[in-house]
Amino acid sequence: MSGCRLCQLGTRPILGEGPTDAKILWIGEAPGAAEVVFGRPFIGPAGQFLRKNLLNGPISENSFVTNLLCCRPREGDHNAIPTPEQIENCRYHLVYLLDILQPLRIIFVGRIAQLVIAPHAAKRGIWYSQNVPHLIDANWCNKASIIHIYHPSYIRRRGGFKVRDRDHHVQEAYEQYENLRSYLLEFLNENL
Ligand code: URA
Repeated sequence: MSGCRLCQLGTRPILGEGPTDAKILWIGEAPGAAEVVFGRPFIGPAGQFLRKNLLNGPISENSFVTNLLCCRPREGDHNAIPTPEQIENCRYHLVYLLDILQPLRIIFVGRIAQLVIAPHAAKRGIWYSQNVPHLIDANWCNKASIIHIYHPSYIRRRGGFKVRDRDHHVQEAYEQYENLRSYLLEFLNENL
């Protein structure tokens, strides 16, 4: 993996982290600057938000966390949106993880991840009507349920959960995170 030349991103690849018997697999977009420095997924500001509000305690202990891309796509100092080609290049990494983990729940974090599994469901967005690779097909999913949530960067950009009483998107995201939290705790209670 460290010698991967499939794309030209060439940062330190971050494969993900978590126990190999994790029941839950989280798939984000791509590592950012902090992730590359620390070699861990979801460790920068967005990751901290996710970990504070959802991915913590027993949920975190039973989760494997990774991204569509192993390397950081960037434009200058900023993170760039993963391209379909880059996602396609990293596909084998996800196939491998799914094979090993056989997770029961897969949580896609954010719109790009959703576009990968359900492009027809994304009404807006720069990729709409483009040829986005379908990473997840029936064989991949086997018995896993797929869940999609708002990306923490989106929630942070809008002001975080403290603005939820005046922003209905944030309120929706808040309810989504709370419901998912209860759902996953119950799921773990029944499956551990
Ligand atoms: N950090 C990650 O590892 N993935 C994201 O999608 C965002 C931040």
